[in-house]
Amino acid sequence: MQLDAAQLASKEQFDRQSHNYGTSHILADTTDVVEALTGITGRRALDVATGGGHTAVALAKLGWDVTASDLSPAMLERTQELAAQRGVKVTTTLHPAEQLPYPDSAFDLVTCRVAAHHFTAPAAFVREVARILKPGGHFLLIDGTVPNDESVAADWIHAVEKLRDPSHGRFLSPSEWTQLCDSSDLAVERISLTPFKQPDLEWYFDTASTSPTNRNQVIELVRTAPQEARGVFRISNENGLIVWWWSRLSLLARRLAPPHAP
Ligand SMILES: C[S@@+](CC[C@H](N)C(=O)[O-])C[C@H]1O[C@@H](n2cnc3c(N)ncnc32)[C@H](O)[C@@H]1O
Repeated sequence: MQLDAAQLASKEQFDRQSHNYGTSHILADTTDVVEALTGITGRRALDVATGGGHTAVALAKLGWDVTASDLSPAMLERTQELAAQRGVKVTTTLHPAEQLPYPDSAFDLVTCRVAAHHFTAPAAFVREVARILKPGGHFLLIDGTVPNDESVAADWIHAVEKLRDPSHGRFLSPSEWTQLCDSSDLAVERISLTPFKQPDLEWYFDTASTSPTNRNQVIELVRTAPQEARGVFRISNENGLIVWWWSRLSLLARRLAPPHAP
C-alpha cells in the first residue's frame, strides 16, 4: 500500500491510538448512522475509514453485507474484535480512502463517519465513492464541519485541530461537500448539522494523546481566539473547564444514473 505523507501520518497516529476506540469511545453510539439510514435499503455496503468498526458493525446488525476499510492495520484488528464480540461478520480491507480498490458499481451503500477531515484529497475520495456506487446507491458522510463563509473561525479550528492531532487535514463546509457531490453525479438528498458539545479540553487531548507542548499551544490559541471563532464555536469556561460546540454534518447523497446514450 503506497501512502502519501498525510496518509502515513494518519496510519501512524491511528495504529498508536487504536486501543482508545473501543466500546467506551463516544463513537460507539451509532444512533446517528442508524437514523440517517432510515428507509435506505440494499445489500452490499462499504464503510471507509472504519476506525474501531462501530459504523461497520451497526450496518452489519442492520443486515448489510459489510466491507470495512481503513489504512491502519491496528484499527482493522479492533474492527474484527468488535464484530466477533457482537456476533456479526464484517470483511476488512486495507487501503486509503482516496483510492478504492473495487470495480465500478460494486456497492449499494458507502459510509464514512468522523474520518474525512483526515483525507489528503476529499475530491478524489468523493469521485471514487461515486464510481463504486451502483446507480441509485447511497453515500452517507458524517464529519465535523465549519459553517459556510466563516473563514476566520475555520482557520482557528484548523490550527487547534492540527496541534491536537497532527494527522488532521481540513474540515470542509456543507457547501464544499455539496459541490464535491454535485460534480461527481451524487445528488444530495438530505443534509443536517447537529451541535455537539465538547465536554472538556483534557478529554479532547487524551483521545489523540496530544503532547504537553501542543496542549499548551492550544490553550494559548483558546485564550487569544478571535471574536469570529468565539461566536461560531461558543467557546466558554464552565467551572474551570474549557468547552465549545462543534458542528457535525450528516449528508446523504444518491448516485445518479449515467445519462443514456443517444
Ligand atoms: C475517528 S476514526 C473513524 C471512526 C469510525 N468511522 C466510526 O464510525 O467509529 C478515523 C479513522 O480514519 C482513518 N483514516 C485517516 N485517514 C485515512 C485515509 N486517508 N484513508 C483511509 N482511512 C483513513 C484512521 O486510520 C482512523 O481509523
